Amino acid sequence: MGLTADRDWWRQAVIYQIYPRSFKDSNGDGLGDIQGVTSQVKYLQSLNIDAVWLSPFYPSALADGGYDVDDYRDVDPKLGTLADFDEMLNELHKVGIRVFVDIVPNHSSNRHIWFQEAVASEPGSAARDRYIFRDGKGANGELPPTNWISHFAPSAWSHESTQGGTGNQWYCHLFAPEQPDFNWDNEEVAEDFLTTLKFWADRGVDGFRIDVAHMMKKDLSEPLKDVPEPVTLDSKVAGNEVLFDRDEVHEVFKSWRALFNQYNPPRVAVAEAWAKPENIHRYASPDELGQAFNFDLLLADFDATTYREIVTRNLAAATKYGSSSTWVFSNHDQVRPATRYGLPRGADLIAFKNSNGRSETLDIGRGLQASIAAQMFALALPGCTYIYQGEELGLPEVLDIPESQIQDPQFLRNNKFDKGRDGCRVPLPWTRNGSSFGFGSACAHLPQPAHFSEYSVEAESGVSTSPLAIFRKALELRKGLVTTEEMQWHETGDPNVLHFSRPNGWHCLTNFGQSPIALPPELKVIHASQPLTGSVLTGATTVWMSA
Ligand code: NOJ
Repeated sequence: MGLTADRDWWRQAVIYQIYPRSFKDSNGDGLGDIQGVTSQVKYLQSLNIDAVWLSPFYPSALADGGYDVDDYRDVDPKLGTLADFDEMLNELHKVGIRVFVDIVPNHSSNRHIWFQEAVASEPGSAARDRYIFRDGKGANGELPPTNWISHFAPSAWSHESTQGGTGNQWYCHLFAPEQPDFNWDNEEVAEDFLTTLKFWADRGVDGFRIDVAHMMKKDLSEPLKDVPEPVTLDSKVAGNEVLFDRDEVHEVFKSWRALFNQYNPPRVAVAEAWAKPENIHRYASPDELGQAFNFDLLLADFDATTYREIVTRNLAAATKYGSSSTWVFSNHDQVRPATRYGLPRGADLIAFKNSNGRSETLDIGRGLQASIAAQMFALALPGCTYIYQGEELGLPEVLDIPESQIQDPQFLRNNKFDKGRDGCRVPLPWTRNGSSFGFGSACAHLPQPAHFSEYSVEAESGVSTSPLAIFRKALELRKGLVTTEEMQWHETGDPNVLHFSRPNGWHCLTNFGQSPIALPPELKVIHASQPLTGSVLTGATTVWMSA
């Protein structure tokens, strides 16, 4: 079968995110690995996806789930070797599945050779200039240089002594202290990332997911500027351009595009850019990365008016700027949608997680229905859909991980303010029984709840009403149905129901409300997000129909 020659394959693709440490453990050490992915090529093929995106598998001490990279051009020995990676790539390519790797350019880990060199070098040295080192404020430099805060610590500055440095400087980290930020004004840094991209592209990698693409360039002119009080990490707040969404970052991505276009087919990329909404298209433009994650649906309530506005606005932007829209409901950072949509509107997700799921009434049945309906709605749209591992099984968020087993710095570093993201990173269940439900031959690195048994691949396979069967059929049908980028809305007269069609006569109807509605009698049902009874569309259901 192999890969098609289509240069535009990514515009209407389905891309499946693998969080390697939690996908499949081949050697019984409790951590998922590269050979684990290779062992499941058949499963991935059975999903009818176009590509997989692997979250970081590079050597890392896991201060932030692998987003603290020691070496960008190697595989973590706990996860395998470069030869294992090549074998996986080859096996996936053989069955027509392309591969994205995750590039983490804003920061390395504190174990990266360059950071080790920087800490061991003098202030003002070339080695320190690859990162952001500064003298502190206060009579003896005892205060951080600015008021910048970090995602995973109160301050974005740590004193070099915390890393074994003997001088009196501070270094910047917008994430954990183990994730020092690079100085993107330094030519060597820019050159080195081109080398890394080339390293993976030359091996045959098809695309790249770019971590926090909006954060790489900062205003580092002297004196460094504070950001407005109260300090936030929100790029939409005026004044925060000091740190986020700066014009200069686009020059970097233009140089990356020049490299991508040297390959046939050109390598593709997608930006994770929490930028100002009016700026996101810049990251996605054809002369830069080509695509950017659109997190609007991920953040939205399950609501017809909201969904319609989001779709209309994003498709118009994609057409205007020559990109293709992306649809995203979940990833390794977000509460799984089956749980999110099972909560009352406006529920405080952090409080909910911190209470181990006790602070709100959760209707997991409705949540699961809404989540599958929402994902089938998106799969019918023009554009590219990203599916996070386990969504095809309808996995809920795991809410009761004991504090002692939490790994996420979002919890550990922030005075336990937010229980964090481990609840969506619990290893996948493959079998009903057995150690770690078939994830591996030992315990999984995060504890799996007993109910994972009923969500396992084994339990759901062959059951026509299971999330897995519904996803598989949807993805198979979609392959044959998606041909162009046009869609048209049809008025339904019901504010809770959306109806659109594609030029080839394919219709998608979603009922966001509670009350059933009659299906259009002139159309024939081809697939539904849950079994239909009679010719009505129940609440929280999507149906695909043909003329
Ligand atoms: C975004 C990634 O998705 C997240 O998991 C990580 O913690 C931060 N970037 C820092 O790399």
